[in-house]
Amino acid sequence: MCGIVGYIGPKPAAPLMVEGLSKLEYRGYDSAGIAILEDHQIEIIKRKGRLAELVSALEAQDLTGKVGIGHTRWATHGKPSHENAHPHYDCSKSFAVVHNGIIENYQEIKKKLIAEGHKFISETDTEVLAHLVEKHYKGDLLQTVHHVIGLIDGAYAMAVIAKDEPERIVCVRKDSPLVVGLGEGENFLASDIPAILKHTRKVFLLEDGEVATITKDVVEVYQKGEKIDKELFKVTWDAEAAEKGGYPHFMLKEIFEQPRALRATFKGRLNNGAVTLDEMRDIKGLDKINKVYFVACGTAYHAGLVGKDVVENLARIPAEADIASEFRYRDPIIDDKTLVVVISQSGETADTLAAMREAQNKGAQVLAVTNVVGSSVSREADLVIYTWAGPEIAVASTKAYLTQLAAMYLFGLFLAQERGILTPKQTSEITKALRELPGHVETVLEQAGKVERLAHEWAKRENAFFIGRGLDWAVAQEGSLKLKEISYIHAEAYAAGELKHGTLALITEGIPVVALATQGRIYDKTISNIKEVKARGAHVTGLVFEGVDISETVDEVIAIPNTIPLLAPILSVVPLQLLAYYAAIARDSDVDKPRNLAKSVTVE
Ligand code: F6R
Repeated sequence: MCGIVGYIGPKPAAPLMVEGLSKLEYRGYDSAGIAILEDHQIEIIKRKGRLAELVSALEAQDLTGKVGIGHTRWATHGKPSHENAHPHYDCSKSFAVVHNGIIENYQEIKKKLIAEGHKFISETDTEVLAHLVEKHYKGDLLQTVHHVIGLIDGAYAMAVIAKDEPERIVCVRKDSPLVVGLGEGENFLASDIPAILKHTRKVFLLEDGEVATITKDVVEVYQKGEKIDKELFKVTWDAEAAEKGGYPHFMLKEIFEQPRALRATFKGRLNNGAVTLDEMRDIKGLDKINKVYFVACGTAYHAGLVGKDVVENLARIPAEADIASEFRYRDPIIDDKTLVVVISQSGETADTLAAMREAQNKGAQVLAVTNVVGSSVSREADLVIYTWAGPEIAVASTKAYLTQLAAMYLFGLFLAQERGILTPKQTSEITKALRELPGHVETVLEQAGKVERLAHEWAKRENAFFIGRGLDWAVAQEGSLKLKEISYIHAEAYAAGELKHGTLALITEGIPVVALATQGRIYDKTISNIKEVKARGAHVTGLVFEGVDISETVDEVIAIPNTIPLLAPILSVVPLQLLAYYAAIARDSDVDKPRNLAKSVTVE
């Protein structure tokens, strides 16, 4: 996600900005920029792409100013580009602003400002902040920022400099982190502690609504216009741990970020018992669509498997899920009544892109479900639903998958709602259950210790099985892939009813099996299949809803909070992610960078 840095003191600010931003690179970004204040002038240098591009651009400059703010941007509003990169000026170049988060009412503000004569250069929500500061500035930047935050809705961490106030930086946060680092005769600002850790371990952690003015000698913090005393926080951990937010690996951090990621996916899309998907407003012939294909690779394909069931179940439209590398070569039967949904975290996967082009050539509309704004998939698709999981660093996908599932429910429900398949009451019940999911994921995560103990046993084995029926089978496939890719334990996912047609021969004494049994309609059938593997000596962990008594049938039980069975995958996959993670740790694998694998597969 985006990163912010700031400096005021006796040293040239530009190199410190670059150094701070380099410590935030792990968060993911697609452009970077700095604003340096010197001689009552603000110079902004920014570049699309890696920080190295910005560094080369700076080599041609002679920036000696000692006040600066900097930013790495991960595109949300507007594609990755030079214009959209931060910092942003106002019309008169008197102010520069960097911002993380989203200004929800920026469109109406922008419209008004344009009518008043303000000229906008970017597509970002952030630029309205610079123009608002310009409009309301009456000689006191602190007062102006206080005023401006009363006009905006949304989440923000923002820092502003003014050419006429070269002695200070003003910053504010709401729902987006911001810290002020305290030095000797110099002070720092950052969205994340690693950016300033080389210079100071003394920080103020700003709380929501707090505004700070930072000079080289003094930091003052205000809440609702009143100056407050801030408690000093002493950082005791090292920079690497801080980048991972205190977690030992990105994968674990990302697993634990899932409640937040889900909330971001649902934000603004579940309103008054209905689904709002503005992204779908340009869909053509919604009532004529007679086939939906989900096309993707790996984990994203597993999200497509859930998507298929969701669309058939809720919208009653025939649906298929297909692996992109197969789909593209098998001459699929597609026409203009087909909607092809490509799912891709990175939006750059070569097979998914090729499958998408194939579908478009055959006349289908393509909807992309992706996490990366401005990615190839998002640019070429006819429609895009962003998952808003935030950058995913670990090679093994976790939070991106969960948010892809969330997108599947939003999309399926949207189709059902728009085609009048569900009654408003039914839709409202499902939206209510969706809203509860982030909290339920938090509850599942509380069982991490139990899963870790189980994983230590699994780590001693070379083979394992995941079984289930219906949606449980879809999740079993994801659980199996996760275990294989990071722990290197061989695992098979099987439709529980299919075991006895061959695979049962592999079930021997002590072999670990996870049996998912969340789908009430076929629960009894799954229980029979569990008994088949138990009778052959398997060590079975049953994954069921709370209150379901399966303890007589299995060796271990993992319970997930109750929800509508259709939504169970969002909860049942979480213990499987943890199981893979802890088994990999016990086997000493390189969890975040498993052997032979890459995060983005841009070759066929
Ligand atoms: C597994 C994993 C991969 C990706 C696949 C598609 O944990 O991450 O299977 O899901 O390579 O990648 P995207 O979603 O970027 O198209």
